[in-house]
Amino acid sequence: MERQLTRLDEARSLIDPIIKSIADEEMKRCAYVHLYGVGLLASVIALKRGYSRKVAELAEITGILHDLLTYVDPSKDTEDHAFFCADYARAHVLLHLKQFTREELDMIYSGIYHHSDKSIKGNWFDEIIKDADAAQHCLRNPMEDYFHQNTRIQEALNEIL
Ligand SMILES: [Fe+2]
Repeated sequence: MERQLTRLDEARSLIDPIIKSIADEEMKRCAYVHLYGVGLLASVIALKRGYSRKVAELAEITGILHDLLTYVDPSKDTEDHAFFCADYARAHVLLHLKQFTREELDMIYSGIYHHSDKSIKGNWFDEIIKDADAAQHCLRNPMEDYFHQNTRIQEALNEIL
């Protein structure tokens, strides 16, 4: 059976070459683990919250994109990296996607732009990305106490598990 190509594949056709071009192998490994980890969890959280598979697809793409620039250019891994990451994603990926509506592209941009505002409650889509990001940090090493003391992470884990 031939695999069905979806809009996620269109997004990956732009994102994966960027990740593959990262020269530092360790940075590349971290990029795949964190970005695809957040993408997967964003999809799970979206479905758990009762949203459609289409929303889960958008959430997954947003998760994969949310920190991409910080792996391509580690000097941009600053407190305000979310804003740089949103602009980078727009210039290198979002503007080149053909199968998405303007509204969907705006949702993805917003999810990336706001993902660092974890102490603020954002719109329903931004919240999926924030919770997925927070949960991935914890689940990649469940024994780190620091993450278990965080309310957002606890609530996200209670929802997922
Ligand atoms: Fe992140």
